[in-house]
Amino acid sequence: MHPTEFTASFHQELEKLFLWRRDVRHFRTEPLPEELLDKLLNYAWMAPSVGLSEPWRFMRVDTPKYKHAIYEEFKRCNQEARNRYTSEKAEHYAKLKLAGLDDAPHHIAVFSEHNPEQGHGVGRQTMPETTLYSTVMAIFSFWLAARSYGVGVGWVSILDPQKVCAILETPKNWKFVAYLCVGYPKTLDDTPELERLGWEKRNLTHKKWFRI
Ligand SMILES: Cc1cc2nc3c(=O)[nH]c(=O)nc-3n(C[C@H](O)[C@H](O)[C@H](O)COP(=O)(O)O)c2cc1C
Repeated sequence: MHPTEFTASFHQELEKLFLWRRDVRHFRTEPLPEELLDKLLNYAWMAPSVGLSEPWRFMRVDTPKYKHAIYEEFKRCNQEARNRYTSEKAEHYAKLKLAGLDDAPHHIAVFSEHNPEQGHGVGRQTMPETTLYSTVMAIFSFWLAARSYGVGVGWVSILDPQKVCAILETPKNWKFVAYLCVGYPKTLDDTPELERLGWEKRNLTHKKWFRI
């Protein structure tokens, strides 16, 4: 069997991985082994990137003062977001847990380097935003690999990117993409939490090929 051939049982497992990958907001507090975190970073590094630019920058946020500052910034943004809803929707929003910043043992901020030297601009002359897309690919690789090792990932975007960069003192050419909560999940589910809580449901209307 050629190394690039995959078995039917692998495909079943792969489908299971996709079905059970969740955005996690409730974590057990014990930390992951360092070797596992390194392994997940390796998976991120296997992602495709425009012109092989590998623009992603993964930052472990371990120091309590920085974690605390990000959590406070999340609470501020979340309150502002909640204020934009009215009546029942606002009440419902307030009940959602939209980040595991309080219990996740690992906080990982992900940035994308703007116009990196690496790749010499190939593929991004007309679409400079493709460096950001590349970084998202790396995040998704990390996310799926994490799930396969029993690790949960929660993406937090309820943050002001400029404030995040200021808090974390990042270089000027790093653009904030995601703040990830990482750890062992408290529970597992095959249905998105927002669907289970009645906020939104999956919609198959556009699940088709548009053709021309
Ligand atoms: C770009 C992006 C930003 C997200 N930001 C948040 C967030 O700030 N808070 C949150 O609770 N979930 C966030 N999510 C998770 C989505 O709500 C979640 O993926 C969606 O509800 C589907 O659930 P699932 O990931 O469990 O399938 C984000 C997901 C993506 C891809």
